[in-house]
Amino acid sequence: MDTSPRPIALVTGASGGIGAALARELARHGHDLVLAARGVAAMETLAAELSAEGASATVIAADLAQPGAAASLTEEIARRGLGIEILVNNAGLGAAGRFDKCDPVRINEMLQVNIVALTELTRLVLPGMIARRRGRVMLVGSVAGFQPGPHMAAYFASKAYVLSLGEALAYELSGTGVSVTVLCPGATATNFFTTAGNDNSIMARHLRRMMPAEDVARLGYRGLAAGRGVVITGAMNRLVALAGRFMPHRITLPVTDWLMRGD
Ligand SMILES: NC(=O)c1ccc[n+]([C@@H]2O[C@H](COP(=O)([O-])OP(=O)(O)OC[C@H]3O[C@@H](n4cnc5c(N)ncnc54)[C@H](OP(=O)(O)O)[C@@H]3O)[C@@H](O)[C@H]2O)c1
Repeated sequence: MDTSPRPIALVTGASGGIGAALARELARHGHDLVLAARGVAAMETLAAELSAEGASATVIAADLAQPGAAASLTEEIARRGLGIEILVNNAGLGAAGRFDKCDPVRINEMLQVNIVALTELTRLVLPGMIARRRGRVMLVGSVAGFQPGPHMAAYFASKAYVLSLGEALAYELSGTGVSVTVLCPGATATNFFTTAGNDNSIMARHLRRMMPAEDVARLGYRGLAAGRGVVITGAMNRLVALAGRFMPHRITLPVTDWLMRGD
């Protein structure tokens, strides 16, 4: 078993964007890292950067869209003798367009990564944390989780699942020494909209200043370290989440539709 004095954090989707920023933030706060995603070259570069700052980072190739990927990943981590103290379920992707026109393979891939792998990894890692009475889990949700989102319907629904799961787990686990934090960013400057095929949306083209991934990671780490249940990044995003939760959906649906649609 690992004897590192630096607790180890597993970050999925660590090859770029918010995941890479979270890995840097965790390293800065004294953690070693396990980085998992498909983009091995980008993670190797990040690992070298982190090791120059005193953090050891292990890179593991993982395609979380594949059935059984979460179990294979935890087996590989155990085989290397690494014990996970922090799990950051960050890997995720979007699929833009009217639902009936979205590629069904793409929708399936998204649900596997955003929902299935996240759930399986959490289920696999939690018992050890609870037995040790120590551990932190982050689920990267979104402000999209607070309302339905036409033209990105299945993505918004996947993030509603993440929010619901995380809030319930945080409640269930109170008093166990293990905390669960749902990080809910709003629009963030990463490859997300390009990957989702959403670069042409009003949202992606006209939102002048998306939050940098570094700011999301800083706020996320702070919430994780404090054991907070839900962290929404920034005042405007808190307002959006509040509107999503409490405004009648007949008002939020057309606004979200307009923001997500290309013109
Ligand atoms: N950017 C935003 O506006 C925004 C807002 C709210 C929430 N979020 C959430 O934040 C999280 C990170 O997204 P991001 O904005 O950083 O986007 P990003 O730059 O596109 O990064 C997505 C990450 O997920 C990984 N990933 C995608 N498919 C994967 C797969 N099959 N197996 C393993 N890893 C996979 C990617 O790695 P590989 O491609 O190398 O596998 C990449 O590291 C997601 O959960 C997203 O839903 C983003």
